[in-house]
Amino acid sequence: MILSTELEYKGNLYPSKIIFYKKHVNILYFKSENNVVLQLTVERDSVLRFRYSTTGLFENDFSYGITMYASKGYNHLEITEDDKKYIITTSKLICHISKVDMRKSIFDAKDNSLIIEDEIGFHWEESYKFGGDIVKMSLASQQGENFYGLGDKPVENNLKGKRFQNWVTDSYAYVRGTDPIYKAIPFYTALHKNKSYGIFFDNTFRSFFDFCKEKRNVTSFWADGGEMNYYFIYGPEMTDVVSNYTDLTGRPQHMPPLWALGYHQCKWSYYPESKVKKLAAKFRELQIPCDALYLDIDYMEGFRCFTWNKEYFPDPKRMVKELADDGFKTIAIIDPGIKIDTEYSIFKEGLENDYFCKRADGPYMKGKVWPGECYFPDYTNPKVRDWWSDLFKELIEDIGVNGVWNDMNEPAVMDVPGKSFPDDVRHDYDGNQCSHRKAHNVYGMQMARATYHGLKKFSYPKRPFVITRAAYSGTQRYSSTWTGDNVATWDHLSIANQQAQRMCMSGFSFVGSDIGGFAEQPTGELFARWIQLGVFHPFCRVHSSGDHGDQEPWVFGSTITDIVRKFIEIRYQLLPYLYTTFWKYANEGIPILKSLVLFDQKDPHTHYRNDEFIFGEKILVCPIIEANSKGRRMYIPKGRWYNFWDNNILIGGEEMWVDADIDSMPIFVKEGAIIPKYPIQQYVGEKVIEQLELDVYYKEGKEISEVYEDAHDGYDYKKGRYSLRNFNQVGKKHSLTLQQFKSGKYISSYDTFKINIHGLPFKITNIEVDNEKIDISKINGNVTFIVTKEFREIYITSK
Ligand code: GLC
Repeated sequence: MILSTELEYKGNLYPSKIIFYKKHVNILYFKSENNVVLQLTVERDSVLRFRYSTTGLFENDFSYGITMYASKGYNHLEITEDDKKYIITTSKLICHISKVDMRKSIFDAKDNSLIIEDEIGFHWEESYKFGGDIVKMSLASQQGENFYGLGDKPVENNLKGKRFQNWVTDSYAYVRGTDPIYKAIPFYTALHKNKSYGIFFDNTFRSFFDFCKEKRNVTSFWADGGEMNYYFIYGPEMTDVVSNYTDLTGRPQHMPPLWALGYHQCKWSYYPESKVKKLAAKFRELQIPCDALYLDIDYMEGFRCFTWNKEYFPDPKRMVKELADDGFKTIAIIDPGIKIDTEYSIFKEGLENDYFCKRADGPYMKGKVWPGECYFPDYTNPKVRDWWSDLFKELIEDIGVNGVWNDMNEPAVMDVPGKSFPDDVRHDYDGNQCSHRKAHNVYGMQMARATYHGLKKFSYPKRPFVITRAAYSGTQRYSSTWTGDNVATWDHLSIANQQAQRMCMSGFSFVGSDIGGFAEQPTGELFARWIQLGVFHPFCRVHSSGDHGDQEPWVFGSTITDIVRKFIEIRYQLLPYLYTTFWKYANEGIPILKSLVLFDQKDPHTHYRNDEFIFGEKILVCPIIEANSKGRRMYIPKGRWYNFWDNNILIGGEEMWVDADIDSMPIFVKEGAIIPKYPIQQYVGEKVIEQLELDVYYKEGKEISEVYEDAHDGYDYKKGRYSLRNFNQVGKKHSLTLQQFKSGKYISSYDTFKINIHGLPFKITNIEVDNEKIDISKINGNVTFIVTKEFREIYITSK
């Protein structure tokens, strides 16, 4: 197979027959006559790692992608052989390795069905130009197989028939199909015959994935260097695949502060101070909830990181404090390019300590970014990361800035071919010195990591908040992210929807888009529709380049302002629900947004759906993505769904028309759900929560819902000071039982729940709370009543 790389094609090489086999605990080695070694590690019963060497020797086993906390261990491991193959059996998988050519097949141990098998399998080309190999893997695609994931690719959810590359790239005003863009997440999930598995190709070189494009029945992936080193992750449930992928590559190391899930307002740029203050005042005046304001590059002195333009911001500490007093957090941008200026202390320190990246023959890597010519810290050097982390002391601890936005960290370089470093730039790569070919895709990740550690240290005892543009697999451990410089068009609204879903599917849920579009200016209608989508994204920020006009919620006239306010208020009401789904993500790796295929993989209708998604576990959302719409057709997944606006029940499993004029959008709640709600606040912490509302959506049958809470900042929750409420709802024709099981030591500020029951099919004659009757004379038509938060069982009946 000839695969297109930029390199000269010299012919493929293949493993020959296996002549040697050895086992060391959970690691198996197979060696071929021509010196290829396959190292197969049984990471878990459902996770196998395949690593190949073409010389008999392996590189140092080092990965930025894999977390040290990845779980290991299996219940069962047995290795047998016959004339033709080795057979590796775990409790979940059976893997065959052919003695003839090292090709492998993997089966489900439960029913012996084939999950995946090699087409050619491993093969490679030698690279005389760079040394090492161009490593390749090809798999036979199964009948009806579909593919999902791969990070931020701006295309439809299903990747079948497409080819992509991973090379993080500054992509101003990218369009549908632009590839690659900002992120390199070489992980995909495949699904066939209701069985799902994932492939994580942990190789940081420029890599490629072909999903049945070059050959109809073949999926392949390859990289311009490094090792063929990939993890096979079995489900068969898609959610388990994604969750196991984040077990390997990590989950957010802690919960975000709750304010980070509020609404954020950004522009390039809000300055001077008086403008920032006016902006803040306007939010409060118009009563549009907002938690965070951003300072883009103009707050700095000549774009020098860690400095302030004293003319625009004479006393940043005072300003940040005054904003904080009004409930606003301040987020400041920090880019990697350090201006070449011998009077600039950060530059001097970097130079004196040899912290900047160098070209192969010794000169510094010099490149132009906002400040003009810059040098760039080598974040792949642990010493540089420590230095970088410490630079945040003043910004965070002294001035009081609450979060940091890392941008241009692909790294972006202006006016040069490839818009980044050239290949020859050298990197430490944590002691595994290498060229930029290998370090490029992790550069931004390591910057975000160093920033995260700095913020963690200097925000203490508060939680850090970081946002990054560039990312490699595993960056979700340190940071949130956004989808980069999009454009104010209707198609971009739809792209943002798919990118957010895809990122969640790729293990990185803390994601959002520049709401309204970064480049150009949206119409009021487009802005409103984008806000409607954006409030259902884990990260919710309006941002724009500012040179095409303003993009604050009030610039499009009062009708739009009212719609925007209404939807931001919905987000603030749903904060305890969103926080719970974040906790599920941070704890179990469950994606915060679920594409329909992830929600119901059994239903083939979901395999090609793009627009509809599940927010958390129970809320179905579908944005309006066309101008002048009064509604749209959408697929309602199987099951019974309550229309959020009028409580009408729909039976899913088909496409239908849903009304949604400009002040509305299709939102549905899964029957049986219990949705927690806070009162509307102008910012997180504005009010002491005196009562938690629980919206109960009656279902005939059983359904479980969870509500997770803690202090919403700080680390006490790690010591058990959290509150997890499991609610069981059991609905029958004439009764409804709600049970609560609580764990954790956190004591919430409220004492009562206000319970609102939707869709109850009978008239209540009796309510018992923990076996005691309550007075039902005051219960109105909406079936609302108040109970103690300690209740264990509520029994509602018509008899
Ligand atoms: C890049 C970022 C954008 C930012 C601008 C100026 O284009 O993607 O968000 O506003 O740089 O810092």
